[in-house]
Amino acid sequence: MIVVKNAVKSFMGVKVLDNVSLKINYGDKIALMGPNGAGKTTLVRSILGFYHLDSGDIEVNGFNPNKHRTKVLENISFIPQTPPPIKLNIEELLEYVSKSSKVSPQTIEEEARKMDLNIKKNLKKPFFKLSGGMKQKLLIAIAIAKNSNILIFDEPTANLDPKAREKFYNLLKELDKKTSAIYITHRIEEIEGLVNRKIYMDLGKIVEDEKIVNQDVK
Ligand SMILES: Nc1ncnc2c1ncn2[C@@H]1O[C@H](COP(=O)(O)OP(=O)(O)O)[C@@H](O)[C@H]1O
Ligand SMILES: [Mg+2]
Repeated sequence: MIVVKNAVKSFMGVKVLDNVSLKINYGDKIALMGPNGAGKTTLVRSILGFYHLDSGDIEVNGFNPNKHRTKVLENISFIPQTPPPIKLNIEELLEYVSKSSKVSPQTIEEEARKMDLNIKKNLKKPFFKLSGGMKQKLLIAIAIAKNSNILIFDEPTANLDPKAREKFYNLLKELDKKTSAIYITHRIEEIEGLVNRKIYMDLGKIVEDEKIVNQDVK
């Protein structure tokens, strides 16, 4: 479902992706790890079509993410490392999401409630004024409610307290078997039970790609 072939991407003359090749299958749940600056975020942003590669190819469900961006993003839920500075209030945001992704505000509310985020109480609050943890919970709720076949989380639990992390983990346990997920994380112990594959990146290369048998996955 995601095929990356010989991806090269440089920023200011430095290779951030150095000939990366990777195949992600239906149902793969991946922990993507590696030190800061390894190229993890650049890799997922290239998969999302936010960057153009210098060379190489990416296909998501058969589509090129730069040429068919809308088609590709239709089926991906992405939680960025830093929440975007959205000016809309929650009510407007939910309306926007429900129109663009055909998911009902109620479904998002239900998912949010599972992480103890009360949306109804905060409808008129602008998104950017929410606390870091609330933003993250709302973005997670939207991502899960969208029912995409690919989920990508870039360090999603960084802003969450331990209890919220556990609830997030429980939500992910309920993901459909066919859904593919990529979790960029430094906290492998948090998602260990959720993944069937661990990928390590360093200096723009994949240095390890390990399959793990996990009874809860697949
Ligand atoms: N938009 C950008 N412009 C310039 N340099 C960037 C940009 N995005 C990432 N980089 C650089 O690319 C390298 C890899 O970054 P990144 O993919 O964010 O690593 P990771 O997510 O593994 O910490 C870093 O050295 C970073 O400074
Ligand atoms: Mg990163």
